[in-house]
Amino acid sequence: MEPKQKKTFNPIEIREDFPILNQTIHRERPLVYFDNGASTQHPRQVIEAMDDCYVRTYANVHRGIHWLSEQSSAQYEQARTSVRRFINASHGNEVIFTSGTTGSINLIARSWGDANVKSGDEILLTMLEHHSNIVPWQQLAERTGAVVKFIQLTEAGELDLDHMHSLLSSRTKIVSFASVSNVLGCRTPVAELTAMAKTVGALVVVDAAQSVPHDKTDVQSWGADFIAFSGHKMLGPSGVGVLWGRQSILEEMQPFLGGGSMIDQVTTDGFTWGELPARFEAGTPPIVEAIGLGSAIEYLENIDVDQIEEHEQVLVKRAYELITEIDGAKILGPAAECRAGLVSFVIEGVSSQDISILLDQLGIAIRAGHHCAMPLHKQLGIKASCRASFYLYNTLDEVEKMGEALKKVVQRLR
Ligand code: ALA
Repeated sequence: MEPKQKKTFNPIEIREDFPILNQTIHRERPLVYFDNGASTQHPRQVIEAMDDCYVRTYANVHRGIHWLSEQSSAQYEQARTSVRRFINASHGNEVIFTSGTTGSINLIARSWGDANVKSGDEILLTMLEHHSNIVPWQQLAERTGAVVKFIQLTEAGELDLDHMHSLLSSRTKIVSFASVSNVLGCRTPVAELTAMAKTVGALVVVDAAQSVPHDKTDVQSWGADFIAFSGHKMLGPSGVGVLWGRQSILEEMQPFLGGGSMIDQVTTDGFTWGELPARFEAGTPPIVEAIGLGSAIEYLENIDVDQIEEHEQVLVKRAYELITEIDGAKILGPAAECRAGLVSFVIEGVSSQDISILLDQLGIAIRAGHHCAMPLHKQLGIKASCRASFYLYNTLDEVEKMGEALKKVVQRLR
């Protein structure tokens, strides 16, 4: 369904759609949820869409010739259309439902990587990456004898494009990078990095898990070959994600998982593959989860992603100011103006985990740890950091509360 007229952006009204946010925890403290980089919450509309499917229309998709299966199949494909529209893909065949960003990247590494990467080839990543955009490539390198290399960061915490330039060569087969770092919050120049990678003919993969939920995405203008993202970071359920791939490349790729749905013919002697996108969706897919993701996209489209980004900028700037006021605080990554809606920090002499535990006692959920980015933390000379990550339903008032609570917590821990 094409979205209707957009709503005026108002986080207080938006919050009314999110039942989980309207509760108190730990001795009547109002819940403040700042762990959106890990997973976001669900509006009633998404919960109701999924519930409605279970209650009225659920059956397996693309298999049954009966009313329920036709309903479910139509809703599942409608969700694909919503994803296509949201990221401006040119065709629904380019949208593959997976289990999430990790599933999507593993699919590329197995399907494209195993067929095209050989000993001595190079896979170029960046020091910003989440483990889900490191380990599948390391596994591919182990299988094939390829080498994984990392683009370093500048002092300012941005990608060192000169270093990237020096690493690119005819051996570079894949360049894979995050569009937004889940730790530093910096945006990478996707189109520029893609253009650089294309000068040596490399395949370009973008881990867009932290940007698709927050920034307008146009896969056609990025020029990359694949992008991966997750439903649960954009108001949808866990268990579903997306691999967008250029149709001409997907058409040449062998499926990684075999089973039902992905075939054309199966005999006792062998099988032939099915068409896109089914070729990469073996087995019963995450049906209700995909329908939930479609509903989440319609919800986001109703609001306007540009306004979400502007709102997060206001929150992040204030968080940046408040954290900076704390003695011994160090914010990781670039200045507030260049970052997406998250802020990671360490406070000298105080454990990040302890900060998170005590903030939780005050009702405030942040994340502490290495955020699945151990190489980056090692490079920064730290084992862990705290991260507050925002979304459309967070308010300035909540950020002020976190600032006050943080001051108290740090005083107590010192
Ligand atoms: N990728 C998720 C995070 O950054 C889990 O927290």
